[in-house]
Amino acid sequence: MSTQQDNKFQQIISHAKEYGFVFPSSEIYDGLSAVYDYGPYGCELKKNIRDYWWKSMTQLHDNIVGIDAAIFMHPTTWKASGHIDNFSDPMIDNKDSKKRYRVDHLIEAKAEELAQEGKKEEEQALLQKMDELLAAEDFVALKKMIDDYNIKCSISDTANWTDIRQFNLMFKTEFGAVATDNPDDNIVYLRPETAQGIFVNFLNVQKTARMKIPFGIAQTGKAFRNEIVARQFIFRMREFEQMEMQFFVRPGTEGEWYQFWKEERLKWHISLGLPKEKYRYHDHIKLAHYAKEACDIEFEFPIGFKEVEGIHSRSDFDLTQHQQYSRKKQQYFDNDINPATGKPYGNYVPYVIETSIGLDRMFLLILANAYEEEVINKEDGSTDSRTVLHIPAKIAPVKLAILPLLKKDGLPEIAQQLLAECKPHFKCFYEEKDAIGKRYRRQDAIGTPFCITIDHQTKEDNTVTIRYRDSMKQERIAISSVKQLVLEAI
Ligand code: GAP
Repeated sequence: MSTQQDNKFQQIISHAKEYGFVFPSSEIYDGLSAVYDYGPYGCELKKNIRDYWWKSMTQLHDNIVGIDAAIFMHPTTWKASGHIDNFSDPMIDNKDSKKRYRVDHLIEAKAEELAQEGKKEEEQALLQKMDELLAAEDFVALKKMIDDYNIKCSISDTANWTDIRQFNLMFKTEFGAVATDNPDDNIVYLRPETAQGIFVNFLNVQKTARMKIPFGIAQTGKAFRNEIVARQFIFRMREFEQMEMQFFVRPGTEGEWYQFWKEERLKWHISLGLPKEKYRYHDHIKLAHYAKEACDIEFEFPIGFKEVEGIHSRSDFDLTQHQQYSRKKQQYFDNDINPATGKPYGNYVPYVIETSIGLDRMFLLILANAYEEEVINKEDGSTDSRTVLHIPAKIAPVKLAILPLLKKDGLPEIAQQLLAECKPHFKCFYEEKDAIGKRYRRQDAIGTPFCITIDHQTKEDNTVTIRYRDSMKQERIAISSVKQLVLEAI
């Protein structure tokens, strides 16, 4: 990461804390690594992103329904899903600093160094080779790569490495208070993805909601991973939230549905007004243990292009595994006629296309894209500055600030009336204190798209000043049109 990128990232982290978006968890005890709490504006923004996703999935698609499965699941779930055996990352320890690193992160950091030195081709070759070796799980060759490039630990500045080993990322805890001879009997896991809650409920949902293939099941909720490298603010957390959708399709149609969802999901991002040029796809060479085809939607964060969402063609892997481990059939009867045979398609285990996006990561994306330290050229030739969050109006934590110019002359009363009219429809903020310029700046800093000022003219002609966050343009409009104007914008 360049110093400039690092500075911007640090500014966003400070801003998020100062303005009540994100706090380190249990901060009075010095925090807990890679765990964060959301403050008053943060939890509004997070909820708005979640709602926007939920609506796009379960309301705008007729064939997708939602569920809310528990975090604790029967431990066999994770045996069947492959997480107990395969959900691990290759890690390496530096013998001097005792610091543990994810092998791919270590090599990616070296690749970025090469890119910054202008060695673009070498960078690409290194990443390509790394992907191949990871896919082949060739840890000896990966270790040699680290040695050949003389990659060093950033703490000890030495290249004194252990061999590469696998490290499972699931958190374990004990369930209930029943003592047994075998301590493993009581072990449960905190789910590392929400997806399995959908798979184990496939038939419950299909039958009760009378869904016909192709159809999807959506879910949002917490997931937990004991991430090793966890120092990128809310980009990589140990407790985070996912928004996942499993789309069940007829075997043989998964290729076209994979393409459909790949495009559909990028459209969702763009529909929020986010810049298309900051997005790209990254097709996977190394596939997760369940995947047949997979790609990431990446965004250009201040820390570089990084994954925000994954689209995975999971074949019938999960349902077949659950069928085998539970000994309960996970089949669907398709009575549509197969043109090849003239008979119904009949019973089969559906194939699955998954879309999986991290809510916290999407939050960071919105914040990073919205943040601007703006220099303002004033009419008299002087300059001023402001920190503004250009958050899309539809998901902004506060939509409208209502600001009486003075605390007297009946202005607060008019403002309160407007507040009473608007607050059942969208989140408003009311403030009487401080000079109006200062109040505007505070709203800019939390990303409020519209401010309304009530002044003496309001008493004469029922007009107010509306001030637009992004352009800072001000105009007079009828007080009676305020609610509708905001509703249309959001
Ligand atoms: N069910 C598939 C699955 O979990 P994944 O690629 O491991 O796939 C999906 O995760 C998304 O979840 C990622 O694209 C990312 O946005 C988010 N995510 C994963 N690990 C995360 C972490 N430690 N902190 C924050 N978000 C994370």
